[in-house]
Amino acid sequence: MGNRLAAVLRAGRSVISNSQDLINDPSTQDKGLSGQAVQEQVLQAYLEANGEPPLTADLSDKERRMTETQLAAMVEVIDENQTIINAEGIEFKGFIPAIFARLVNEKFAEEMSSEARVKVTAPKDLVRNRMARPDGWENQVIEEKFRKGDWPIGEAFYEQTTVDGKPAFRMLIPEYYSDSCLACHGSPAGDTDVTGFPKEGGSLGDLAGAISITLFE
Ligand code: HEC
Repeated sequence: MGNRLAAVLRAGRSVISNSQDLINDPSTQDKGLSGQAVQEQVLQAYLEANGEPPLTADLSDKERRMTETQLAAMVEVIDENQTIINAEGIEFKGFIPAIFARLVNEKFAEEMSSEARVKVTAPKDLVRNRMARPDGWENQVIEEKFRKGDWPIGEAFYEQTTVDGKPAFRMLIPEYYSDSCLACHGSPAGDTDVTGFPKEGGSLGDLAGAISITLFE
């Protein structure tokens, strides 16, 4: 289930990423990027990346509810942001995959936080949004596993542990900078990117962050 939550989030981010030029276009007033339209693209992107749709017949009721809630959160976030997405005359609207993902995760948590949590975090020294700061467990996995030279690229870390005193299955999936990230997270470190944040000075392939999934029993 953790993998599915992460994969749906990734599909969502990829749709926003592929629509970035359209979102940033200051001339078009109706981009046709409704919640419904985005959801269809997310389902398609998920299918292409995973070889099956996110909602398959073999899901348990709980798994189905979680996935449906996550997809519905995407629709709501897009619908709530129509004014900014369609704003005329504004080129960079700040509506980027990382922001979209955070809004979706926050909305998901409103309904699901006692059952599951989805978060995008990053190494302490790279975190931009305070909400994304790694907790103790995430920090330890990032520093002692993902940042060690022998950690296999892309390999997730799983552990049965506790969160807020409750038994939980936790999963952390590392993510790395690709070329497209470096316009904002690359060099020279400290220079302001288009979003107003200082760049981190990251290089291609460096650890950028991690998707963190918590599943309560
Ligand atoms: C247009 C600039 C831009 C691009 C391109 C970009 N990011 Fe970001 N990224 C940001 C901003 C701004 C935030 C903070 C979002 C927020 O407020 O939650 C962020 C947040 C993050 C976070 C969450 C942790 C944190 O620091 O708050 C991670 C991880 C991340 N980016 C990785 C990436 C990766 C990997 C890519 C490429 C696939 C990428 N980013 C592309 C601007 C960008």
